[in-house]
Amino acid sequence: MIIRKYLFSFFYRATRFLARIITSLYQFIFNKKQDLESIVDFGDRNLVKIDKLFGGIAYQFLIPDNLEVELFDLKFKSPIIASSFKSDKNLIGIWLKLGLGGAILKTIMKDERKGNSKPRLQQVRLERQACLVNALGLPGEGVEKFSKAIIDNPLWNHKKPIGLSIGGENLDDYIKTFNVLDTMSNKLKSSKYFFELNISCPNTDTGSTIGENIDELETLINHIRAKNDSVVSVKISPDWNNDHLKKIGEVIKSKEKMIINAGNTQFKTIEYLGFKNGSLPRGGGGLSGVAIFPRTLELVNLFNDMNLKIMATGGISTIHHLNAVKDAGASLYGLATALIMDPYCIPKINYALSRVK
Ligand SMILES: Cc1cc2nc3c(=O)[nH]c(=O)nc-3n(C[C@H](O)[C@H](O)[C@H](O)COP(=O)(O)O)c2cc1C
Repeated sequence: MIIRKYLFSFFYRATRFLARIITSLYQFIFNKKQDLESIVDFGDRNLVKIDKLFGGIAYQFLIPDNLEVELFDLKFKSPIIASSFKSDKNLIGIWLKLGLGGAILKTIMKDERKGNSKPRLQQVRLERQACLVNALGLPGEGVEKFSKAIIDNPLWNHKKPIGLSIGGENLDDYIKTFNVLDTMSNKLKSSKYFFELNISCPNTDTGSTIGENIDELETLINHIRAKNDSVVSVKISPDWNNDHLKKIGEVIKSKEKMIINAGNTQFKTIEYLGFKNGSLPRGGGGLSGVAIFPRTLELVNLFNDMNLKIMATGGISTIHHLNAVKDAGASLYGLATALIMDPYCIPKINYALSRVK
């Protein structure tokens, strides 16, 4: 039934809007700091509860047959995938049922981290669209705990490629985290996984990232290639200048089975965003959503000129965005903000995509 996705999309957006208004009012009246994270967490918990009760009708959508994309030895039934930003496997499972071709799990760090203090996620209206700004600071359970939990996770039952995103404060962190994941990967029943190097990890304690040091990046990729022949995606920052990005592109081009993920959030200060002091830690955060799309398109053009395999991430939420980056040379499309705003964009985009193919 074609109309089902539009109906559920309407209910989802209306409920999200109301929840946001009520929570914002509560935070205002009781003089609490405005914070979107509690609303998102509340919504996520309810989506998972709904899955247990009515998952079949609310979330089960077929992917049209003609959307498959093959990248090296990975097959994506749909080219839209979840970008790395959520660690909740139940929620990611829901998005896969809604029709994603794959998903990248939230960046895994060597040790457990609480992340920055709250508030660290805000909504902002730019380009007449709701966008997000986050300064979560990569909270997570750490690679050892993650590895034990992921081996038998039902996520693999979807038989879709799952990306393991690696972050770190320095080269040594990346190598140690990769080594643990590499050992774990031998126990996986599925070969449908790939690695992503989040080399643009913002919000780290040092403030610098491995992507700024081309030699270290190459050392890391060589280390991975010597041990594991799975696809590796490298996720860059749209904040870097094009000359630097071309150098990264050259390194990636010289290695086997590599994808470039063009882009990530764009760092913006609270002054730029018009937020009050204390709205975000570290004086600002990573902007995501429609407002960053023009730079994503620019990056796809840049890397397409270098003949790289490209995943486009940043500001994609409709078939129009997708067609633009597809025409510019991207093969996969990563979504984050759009999944928070309305996960029913997944069946909507798949449907629209099947009609233009
Ligand atoms: C709340 C939140 C958390 C994120 N966490 C990560 C992360 O752990 N690792 C990562 O590579 N990118 C992370 N991102 C960036 C997204 O994966 C994506 O690259 C960015 O949001 C741009 O895409 P979008 O405009 O579709 O949101 C995060 C984004 C958001 C909004």
